[in-house]
Amino acid sequence: MTRRAIYPGSFDPLTNGHLDIIERGSRLFDEVVVAILVNPAKQSMFTVEERCEIIAEVAGSDRVRVDTFHGLLVHYAVARQATAIIRGIRAVSDYEYELQMALMNRRLEPRVETLFLMSSDAYSYVSSRLVKEVASLGGSVTGMVPPLVEERLRARLGTPPSTKD
Ligand code: PNS
Repeated sequence: MTRRAIYPGSFDPLTNGHLDIIERGSRLFDEVVVAILVNPAKQSMFTVEERCEIIAEVAGSDRVRVDTFHGLLVHYAVARQATAIIRGIRAVSDYEYELQMALMNRRLEPRVETLFLMSSDAYSYVSSRLVKEVASLGGSVTGMVPPLVEERLRARLGTPPSTKD
């Protein structure tokens, strides 16, 4: 049986912290499905299609699939026959919210286990929200996101390439 995990999130946009978690997850499971939440109520910088394309291009492989979902995550996980949900934890501050979600998900669906993975400490301060803020104010996000994401951010924001490496 294929051991499949779901790595859910907004991924608006994908960061090197996300990539690090995808790589760690794919060493533990036969297949990791990076699942983008479709949430029309939430304003995003990139469309779901753009986010899918970016993730497929940067991280896609025979062990890493990209998909979208809506509704309850645990319903999606069961429909995909996944045994686990992966979430990345950066700092203690992430833990409270993540624990709440993990316990709620367990209550809703005890067959699906949540696994917290720690990204490299090099990315402990990197978040999609801060990346968007820094990039939109003209700061360099080199090293925090894959080069393709940097390119897409520049195109979206109409900013010139960074001079700082
Ligand atoms: O990267 P994010 O935005 O922190 O991801 C949050 C996500 C998508 C994992 C969470 O909002 C989610 O699972 N939403 C789906 C709806 C759901 O299942 N809600 C109950 C969670 S306890």
